[in-house]
Order: sequence, then C-alpha cells, then structure tokens
Amino acid sequence: MIPKLIVANWKMAIDLDAVRVFEREWNGGPAVTTADVVVAPPAVFLHHAAVLGGVSLCGQDVSIHSMGAHTGEVSAAMLKALGCRYGIVGHSERRSGHSETNALIAEKASRLETEGLRPIICVGESLLERQSGGAESLIATQVTESCSGLSTAPIIAYEPVWAIGSGESASPDDVVVMHRHIKRTLDRAFAADVPVLYGGSVNPENCTQFTAHPEVNGLLVGGASLNARQFWKLCTSVGGER
Ligand code: 13P
Repeated sequence: MIPKLIVANWKMAIDLDAVRVFEREWNGGPAVTTADVVVAPPAVFLHHAAVLGGVSLCGQDVSIHSMGAHTGEVSAAMLKALGCRYGIVGHSERRSGHSETNALIAEKASRLETEGLRPIICVGESLLERQSGGAESLIATQVTESCSGLSTAPIIAYEPVWAIGSGESASPDDVVVMHRHIKRTLDRAFAADVPVLYGGSVNPENCTQFTAHPEVNGLLVGGASLNARQFWKLCTSVGGER
C-alpha cells in the first residue's frame, strides 16, 4: 500500500529561528507512519530541513537553465545535490507574481525530470474563471501544456487560486470533480496514473474531508505546515492509500 502524499510548502513564510523550532518539535515527537511526508523549505534552508526525521525534501521552484551565469537561480542538479526528491513548479504565486507561462513551467518540469526529481506541477483557476464556468477548460490547458515534454508521470497539485491562504477551501465534491477531470485529461499522456494533490486552506480539521476520496492522492499544505505540531496532527489524521 502506498500512503497518501502530504507536501508542506513553507513558501517564504518562515525564518531560521522558526525552522529550528520546527526541527526540535518535529524530531522530538513520534514519527508519522500513515502518510508520506515531504517538506519544501526555502532553498537556503534545505540543509536545515535535511535533519527532519522521516521526511523527503522538495524544491519550491527551479531554474529553466541547467547551469551557468544565472544570478539568483537554483538548478535542478543543485536541488538534487541537497537531497531533494521533488520540485514544485507552476505555483500560482509564480504564475501570477512572476508571469510564468505553461510553456516555461513545462521547461522547468523537464529540468527536474532530467535530474531524476519528480515535478509537482501546480494548476488552479481564479474565482472569476470558476464563476464564469471556464475552470475545467482552463485546468485542462494548464495540465496539458505544463506537462508537455515529460516522459514519466509527474504529480499534479490542484490549488484553486481563491482557496490559497484565504481560509476558504474548495468543497470536497468540487475537488473530486476536478481531480477526475485532471486524471482523465492526462490519461493518454502517461503509462502510469497521475497522482493529484489538493491544496488551498487545508488544515488538521478539514484535511480528511479531502483525503477520504480515492481521487485525492494527497495534499499540498501552506500555512498549516509551518508549525510542527499542527502539521504532525494533520499528517497523522490522514490515512488510506494514495
Ligand atoms: P495555504 O495552505 O496556506 O492555503 O497554501 C496553499 C498553498 O499555496 C500550498 O502550495
């Protein structure tokens, strides 16, 4: 049995003191045995997060370049060298704040794949797109274009933009519908089933409403992943198969 995948995205919302407190509390408590846990710290804290017990590491983003004169960039090979097994690309904060296109995200995902890291490709519609009835077609375009060029199945994270950091998660029914739609859209592209995570205002209280569904292969968690005790509670609440 493969357990559900729970990914913590710390974004730029944590400082070094808080990372140290997280380490002390996480490593001081019992291990999570019912879920696979992944942590995506800011790149500069990757070596600190490497001491977290029972956790795989993930980059929050990656350069489209393999190496060279690209000031401020972090390559897939660098992430790999620091122990990452996964890399997030296409987060809505990069799509909107850095004008990242599906084509650019596909290039980044390919860089990760080439280095043997599994891309976690984020997709999601805005509130306006959902209200206008265009969410499904937008998501189909995002997943198809962002996965183009990959030869092995990535992980998709469905994060409706309006649910991120708002305290208002999507309804589990809407999430299941969209996850089925994403899996169907990518059905022919890859030999293996594409795991789909849900993200957007997930917390220890609502997490099992999502993971109770077989279409939800795991979660991508922002705010509720910053405190070790809260995140541990969330991870240990989640059971079942990916
Ligand atoms: P929140 O869990 O804080 O809503 O963030 C979700 C997210 O963007 C994870 O990548």
